[in-house]
Amino acid sequence: MVDANNNLYREFLDVTDDLIDAPEFKRLSECRHHYGVSRMQHCINVAYYSFVVCRRLGFDYRAAARAGLLHDLFYYDWNSETMSFRQHAYSHSKDALKNAESLIELTELERDIIKNHMWLCGKIRPRYRETYIVSVADKICALWEACRGVRIKAADKVGKSLTGSRAA
Ligand SMILES: [Fe+2]
Ligand SMILES: [Fe+2]
Repeated sequence: MVDANNNLYREFLDVTDDLIDAPEFKRLSECRHHYGVSRMQHCINVAYYSFVVCRRLGFDYRAAARAGLLHDLFYYDWNSETMSFRQHAYSHSKDALKNAESLIELTELERDIIKNHMWLCGKIRPRYRETYIVSVADKICALWEACRGVRIKAADKVGKSLTGSRAA
């Protein structure tokens, strides 16, 4: 999804590489977030696009990139049978904030981004414009990743049915 060779991506890495290299962040590669997409990849996608938009608009792109990376820094595997979506929306933001605070010292803006990235759910109200950007990037990336998952699942199904019909 992100082109690793462009200059903007290198600039993004300049402000986030300490976090990307942290074992606490790398652990997210083991957590499935959407079908075929790890939580680590989802966080990188959200952080990168938030960085690009905030940089273009003259907003605090460093905070957007860094808090974007940490916005889903939690390790449990959510499913709708064990917790409602609303409960999950509040609980994972709280967990992510706690985990991020134990990893680095956060600014007020970064705290707001992580705590309120589930804007539009319940009474969550961001205090900063960068939080809205990260929140929208989160929703777009989630949708894109979920659609990609549906396409992969559909292709798997077609592949299996073709293999099955040939074997029969
Ligand atoms: Fe989230
Ligand atoms: Fe997210």
